[in-house]
Amino acid sequence: MEQYAIKGGNPLVGEVEIGGAKNAALPILAASVMTDETVYIENMPDVRDTNVLLSAMENIGVIVKRTDRHKVTLNASNISELVVEDENIKKIRASYYLIGALLGKYKHAEVALPGGCDIGCRAIDQHIKGFRALGADVKIEHGLIKTQAEHLRGSHIYMDVVSVGATINIMMAAVMAEGTTIIENSAKEPHVVDLANFLNSMGANIKGAGTDVIRIKGVSHLHGTEYAVIPDQIEAGTFMFAAAVTKGDVTVIPKHLESITAKLLEIGCEVEEADDCIRVVASKPLQHTQVKTLPYPGFPTDMQPQITVALGLSKGTSIVTESIFENRFKYVDELTRMGANIKVESNIAIINGVTRYTGARVNAPDLRAGAALVIAGLVAEGITVIDDIYFIERGYEEFDQKLRGIGAQIEKVSDEKEIQKFILKVS
Ligand code: UD1
Repeated sequence: MEQYAIKGGNPLVGEVEIGGAKNAALPILAASVMTDETVYIENMPDVRDTNVLLSAMENIGVIVKRTDRHKVTLNASNISELVVEDENIKKIRASYYLIGALLGKYKHAEVALPGGCDIGCRAIDQHIKGFRALGADVKIEHGLIKTQAEHLRGSHIYMDVVSVGATINIMMAAVMAEGTTIIENSAKEPHVVDLANFLNSMGANIKGAGTDVIRIKGVSHLHGTEYAVIPDQIEAGTFMFAAAVTKGDVTVIPKHLESITAKLLEIGCEVEEADDCIRVVASKPLQHTQVKTLPYPGFPTDMQPQITVALGLSKGTSIVTESIFENRFKYVDELTRMGANIKVESNIAIINGVTRYTGARVNAPDLRAGAALVIAGLVAEGITVIDDIYFIERGYEEFDQKLRGIGAQIEKVSDEKEIQKFILKVS
């Protein structure tokens, strides 16, 4: 099992090139099965989740070629299977995007129920409600979601909760349905918009993505396209908070999310925005604030652990309310072992800022919490070892290498001997 060994204390300084957004890339890959023509995708992140999805797609007959590390071509004209149940696919949340995509094109799909990060109950009732509204039969049997339809017909669907996954899945299922589908109370995240733009570039007729009402006029077929995935706002935000916590000066290219910038300003960082990049300078002590995670354009739940790590070192008492997932503070126990003073009551973390973290051996409980613990390790006194970095690699490409590029002392290690070697090297 690989781990990160980190020696904290270096301010991070320099520029970081941000990769393609994992959460946009995943539905875009899935939607590529909806045409028989070839699809060229650029800016594809080379992370575990996208690779698991690509190999599941290969297993059902999609021809996948990586023309370079971040470019992939897909051709789904010879799909041989509408049942997707390989072992790995259960581990990623986005496996369920193949349901909407295959159902939309072939009117039939059977996909293993998704896993993903263990951050709370991750219901799929809204996905199912949407598929049924379009005319599909849906049942869950033997660990598979099975959907089938004679015809899919446009429908008026009101989402009871704002769900990124359900919005995306229903959008894909509706793209080739007969007539018009209206999704009300849809998610507005940039990756929802990116998928709509991708589908439109294939000949779909989707309007309103990025607002809370999406209108989809069914088309009879989709054609091939060339498309570049948007940059990853969460990767960018993670580096911006790494700059804040280490008293650094980091520029991320290109620039990103207003809600992250707003919070960095509130806690005392300087943020300079140019046309295509954003620079975060943290020269003053960090200040407390309050933050509540919300659907876009609110503060993203995927940035909650990173801001909590920063607030743990800020002056005064901060409050973080997690309103999207009910079990997303599991990493707090690990952070406490590094010296944080945080009390969690239900979905609220009350954070009394401390002056320092100290290195410890900690576990990455999920993807974003893992990245947040890396940030804590980068500022902690002494050595931090993070276990289970498998989770981090699901969504961050060459995280350690990018961090070393801006001055961090971090290495991937796989046993005690390598940890000792790292300690000798950095001390
Ligand atoms: C996606 C992202 C994840 C991010 C989350 C919220 C991907 C692969 N993952 O996850 O990184 O943290 O959006 O921005 O893009 N819900 C229901 N019923 C449903 C669907 C969702 O009740 O049918 C609830 C969930 O339990 C949760 C909330 O809605 O409380 C939001 O979930 P959703 O937006 O669907 O998250 P995901 O798409 O799973």
